[in-house]
Amino acid sequence: MTMHTRTLGTTGPQVSALGLGCMGMSGMYGAADRDESIATIHAALDAGVTLLDTGDFYGMGHNELLIAEALRTAPAALRDNALISVKFGALRDPDGGWSGFDGRPAAVKNFAAYSLQRLGVDHIDVYRPSRLDPDVPIEETVGAIAELVEKGYVRHIGLSEVGADTIRRAAATAPIADLQIEYALVSRGPERDILPTTRELGIAITAYGVLSRGLISGHFTPDQQFAANDFRAYSPRFQGDNYRHNLTLVEALRKIAEQKGVTVAQIAIAWVLSRGDDIVPLVGARTRERLTESLGALDVTLDRADLDAIDEAVPAEAVAGTRYAAEQMAMLDSER
Ligand SMILES: NC(=O)c1ccc[n+]([C@@H]2O[C@H](COP(=O)([O-])OP(=O)(O)OC[C@H]3O[C@@H](n4cnc5c(N)ncnc54)[C@H](OP(=O)(O)O)[C@@H]3O)[C@@H](O)[C@H]2O)c1
Repeated sequence: MTMHTRTLGTTGPQVSALGLGCMGMSGMYGAADRDESIATIHAALDAGVTLLDTGDFYGMGHNELLIAEALRTAPAALRDNALISVKFGALRDPDGGWSGFDGRPAAVKNFAAYSLQRLGVDHIDVYRPSRLDPDVPIEETVGAIAELVEKGYVRHIGLSEVGADTIRRAAATAPIADLQIEYALVSRGPERDILPTTRELGIAITAYGVLSRGLISGHFTPDQQFAANDFRAYSPRFQGDNYRHNLTLVEALRKIAEQKGVTVAQIAIAWVLSRGDDIVPLVGARTRERLTESLGALDVTLDRADLDAIDEAVPAEAVAGTRYAAEQMAMLDSER
């Protein structure tokens, strides 16, 4: 495995070509093992991964505290290479419920103050609102982060799940390093007008859900059971006929993977990597085994014939089910 680097836009930092998304280590996909999560972060750093992605609302601070512990117990040289990307704004309640978004300037500074404490760092490398707060102009939210940049608490500004108009307004307010958005073989929405916009403006993409939450990992079976607190227990793509249909796409992809001597997950991640040097996939591994498999994608080369075969196996619109349930889809500025 060779770790390449990519740059987050014209103004952002150089990062490893694959980032590690830490969300699944804090309960979003059911229970996770704390020791294995930390070992996975250490293994990622050791393999040359420098970008760690989190959100202050993942496990209500649990994910940031976990990352802090992993960094504290990592060799100093690896710790110093790590760049932390933090999302803020999603509001939680003590039951674990979700109750909206807050992008007001005072809230931005409050969220940042708590994140800095939990992470045990003096600055956050990339800081981004997780969703557009419909009641707050993006200029105000981004303006507040820009003030944090001026004071040295934040290095770079990112966005998440916003559409072309909002990207333009944000970029007119302050330099934007990257847009985080779901992008995968089965989630092609950004190709319409978001990718052309980020490319025009020199903004990178950190792509999440590159395995569609494990759906196209090749590891899920038709009788897979998900815990009640697992996102996938409610995700439309994992329900009934949708799920059965989507697994037929995985089997078509598996044939291509087998011919190339790689795994389904590797080919799915390699496909995202192949879409441009401005794209950094975030892999959601929470065990060393899954991480090792994901990193193997860096050594997979897809030529024209491979890409054509993949397109035929998994046509752009072939997936059944939206990427979130209707209520959450309605909160995505990127889907307007
Ligand atoms: N900006 C946003 O709105 C947003 C939203 C969601 C996520 N994110 C970020 O993006 C990161 C990645 O997203 P994601 O977790 O949805 O991505 P993903 O990589 O599509 O899905 C991760 C899930 O796939 C399964 N999997 C199976 N084989 C795997 C393999 N070889 N490598 C990795 N995972 C494998 C794992 O489930 P099992 O562990 O159960 O096997 C894992 O929990 C998150 O951690 C988070 O930091 C951002």
